[in-house]
Parts: sequence; structure tokens; C-alpha cells
Amino acid sequence: MPHSRRHFIGSAAAAAAGVSSFAQTAKPKSANDTIQIALIGAGGMGTADAQSSLAVGGTKIVAVADIYDGRIARAKERWGNDLFASRDYREVLARKDVDAVIIGTPDHWHQKISIDAMDAGKDVYCEKPMVQKVEQGKAVIEAQARNKRIFQVGSQRVSSIIYQKAKDLIKAGTIGEVNLIEAWWDRNSAIGAWQYSIPPDASPENIDWDKFIGSAPKHPFEPIRLFRWRNYKDYGTGVCGDLFVHLFSGMHHILETNGPNRIFSTGGLRFWNDGRDVPDIMVGLYDYPATAKHPAFNLSLRVNFVSGNGGSSGFRFVGSEGIIMVDDAVTVMRAPREVDPGTTIGTFSEKIREEVTRQHRAKYPVVRPNADSMRAREEDKYMPPPGYNDHLDHHRNFIEAIRSRKPVIEDATFGLRAAGPAVLSNVSYDQKKTIEWDPQTMTVKG
Ligand SMILES: NC(=O)c1ccc[n+]([C@@H]2O[C@H](COP(=O)([O-])OP(=O)(O)OC[C@H]3O[C@@H](n4cnc5c(N)ncnc54)[C@H](O)[C@@H]3O)[C@@H](O)[C@H]2O)c1
Repeated sequence: MPHSRRHFIGSAAAAAAGVSSFAQTAKPKSANDTIQIALIGAGGMGTADAQSSLAVGGTKIVAVADIYDGRIARAKERWGNDLFASRDYREVLARKDVDAVIIGTPDHWHQKISIDAMDAGKDVYCEKPMVQKVEQGKAVIEAQARNKRIFQVGSQRVSSIIYQKAKDLIKAGTIGEVNLIEAWWDRNSAIGAWQYSIPPDASPENIDWDKFIGSAPKHPFEPIRLFRWRNYKDYGTGVCGDLFVHLFSGMHHILETNGPNRIFSTGGLRFWNDGRDVPDIMVGLYDYPATAKHPAFNLSLRVNFVSGNGGSSGFRFVGSEGIIMVDDAVTVMRAPREVDPGTTIGTFSEKIREEVTRQHRAKYPVVRPNADSMRAREEDKYMPPPGYNDHLDHHRNFIEAIRSRKPVIEDATFGLRAAGPAVLSNVSYDQKKTIEWDPQTMTVKG
């Protein structure tokens, strides 16, 4: 168990759940057994998850639950008419032929369906953010421990060889000690800003509206709230839960860190005035305390849906001896050693200027540059092979864990340590204050 988070699960969370050990004791599946999977929430990402699980091999999609009949029809087009289908996910969980479920619903359903699924004896792949509200997280950890289920959160970056490369390089001291991380995700298009299509047939006849609303505040039938659920606090988690969470997951994996202890964010709704009640620009600032694995550092995150540049996403890990950029590759830029640091003597008297200059030149004689004094820029770029797909690797990790009963890479504790600061960024924004968070115990302080 390489990560301290696993140690935590093995002790505190298991104790809290009243179980004596976190061993995954369910019967392992043999290499020849087909893993039978049900998809709950057959929209964009759930479908992509199901496809990646199928691409791993030795898997079959046997059931689907969705509250919009059109999505069920599409699922049958893809995976066959013999697929068991229901508007009620509990009917899927009751089926003995389902080994595992993929949860691709809007965020406000993640916690409930995850716990129900594990209590029903299913292994779970739950999309990020693991929970919509921070206080929902511990119950998922406890359900995982109580039921000894495989539970993988769907932030696929933690399975990426790109992030593994960055992790290896930083661990090897390539850029010295990391002091500052800047990460951003700018998406400057209508679809990037969640203006998804609304099917013209959407009606109370083919949508189970009450099952969509669930525990969210009651609201009359209004299809935009379902098909663009991210735009509403009642169902989604804004840009923080949607996108910051990926940045937290990736970065936590690279640095083997549990998270920040201070969280502050601000932002606003600047451009997409389409009825949404969440910001389209957010910036977050986070203090990470020193641990045995890393010194203290600061993190800044930004999501910007506004400016018309097409968009980009990446990280800059700023170390004492260089910088690592992580996007669809890993680029290492080593800081050049300063030859002559220069002086700042313009405001001193002539006598002092002469004295400082004399001392300085004794240490750094004037060298006239020539072609030989030019140096190649120290920069290495590591590219993944063409067509590399971290999402497939993330599902491979999940399916292999179902077979072996060994821990996944992104369990519920890791999931809460990423979702916690992400959704608390919404709290900071709403309450206009800094939030104190204990990343070890995953509790809000004060
Ligand atoms: N890992 C990633 O890169 C990534 C990318 C996109 C989305 N996501 C996550 O995936 C989840 C789904 O996002 P999406 O873009 O696919 O949304 P979507 O709207 O395309 O799909 C959600 C589906 O859930 C269905 N649904 C709603 N309530 C339900 C219920 N109670 N029971 C069963 N089905 C229900 C909807 O009808 C819809 O088909 C979100 O949590 C999102 O954050 C992750």
C-alpha cells in the first residue's frame, strides 16, 4: 500500500465503520469470468465509462438505469436489446447478474447510489466528484469499508502515465522542492461552458422527473435543469466540483499529498447568462502544509469559461531548481544557474557604488560573450505514445481490482480528499471566507 491514505482507511475509517480490517475479502473472479456491469446514468460520461470498461475486455454491460427513456433507447442501440433497463436504479442493484455498477448520474446522486450499490454487494465506479457536499464523504468511505467493496472514483488522471512520469520526476528531485503549483482549465466555447443539447421530445411522459430531483429541492418539470444540470447548484457542483476536482486529483497523485489546510476561492458569473446559478469564472487559492512527503507549498487554480481563446488546461509545478509543466505531455525546464546575479546600487553614493562594484567584479569578472558561451536550453519533453488513453487505464485498474480484490488507485478516501477541497471552494465562494480543512481526518475545522 504505497499511499498513506490507504493506511488511514485501514485504521480510522474501518474503526469508524465498526469493521476490524479493510481486506477485500469478496471471492476473487478468475481471469475467465466475465465481469457483468450495470450503468446507472447513461449520459455522456457514463456511456464513455461503459465503453472503456468494455474495451478492457472480459466485461459485459448487462443492465442500465436512467430516468430519461431516450438514454435507455440509445443504450439498447449500443449494447443490445436484451439489456435489462429500468428508470429505477434500485431494480438494477437488486439483480444477481450484476457484479459492478458505473455511476454516471449528476453529482447530487453520487453518494446515495454509491452507498446503496455497495450495500447491495456491488463494486462501484463512481464518477467524480465523489460527493456533492463535503459532509457526504465519510459515509461513502464507511460503506466501502463495511461492505469490503471495490470503489473507484472516476478521475482518470490518477491512472495516467503522464501523471506517473511527473510524479517520478518530482520524486527523483528533478526540480528540487516544489514550492508553488499553478493549474488552470480554460474552456472558451458554448459546449465547454456546458450548453448541452436538449432533446426535443423531453416530456414528463419520457422523463421520471421526481427520480431526477431525488433529495434536491422540489422544482416543476423543466428539461433544461436535467440536460444542463451542471448549471444549477441543486444538482451539480459548479466548476469546482466539475473541473477543480480533476486538478486536485491529478496533483494529489503526483505529490502524494492529502490536501490543503486552507481553502479560499472567488469568482463570478460574467458571460454565460443563460439562467445558470453558478459562476463561469473561479479562482481558488490553497495552502498545503508540510508533510513527510513534501514541504509546504501553495496552489492556485483557475477555471475560465469566458475569454475567446479556445481554451487549455495544465499545471506548472514550480520547484527550487526548475519547473515541470504537465498537460498532454510532461515538460521539464531546469532553472539555469545564475552566473552573475548583478547588483542594485543605483541609489547608493558614488563611493559605495564603487566599493560594491569592485567587490562584485572581483567575484564575477567581466567575460565577453562569444559563441562558445552559449548553452542549449535545458528542457526535456516526455510525450505519451500516440493515441494514449488514460481513461482506459483507469477502467483497467478498476476491472483488475474486481478480479484480484486488491485496492484501486482512487478509493473513497482519495476521492474525498480531492472532492473535499473542490466542493469547499464553493462554500468559500458562497460564504466569502477562508475554510480551514484538516486533510488528514477530512474534516472542516472551526
Ligand atoms: N471523468 C470525467 O472526465 C468526466 C467527464 C464528464 C462528466 N463526468 C461526471 O460524470 C457524471 C455525469 O456527467 P455527464 O456529463 O455524463 O451528464 P449527463 O447529463 O450526460 O448524464 C447524466 C445521466 O444521468 C441520468 N440520471 C439523472 N438522474 C438519474 C437517476 N436518479 N438515476 C439514473 N439516471 C439518472 C440522466 O438522465 C442522464 O442520462 C457527472 O458526475 C460528471 O461530473 C466526469
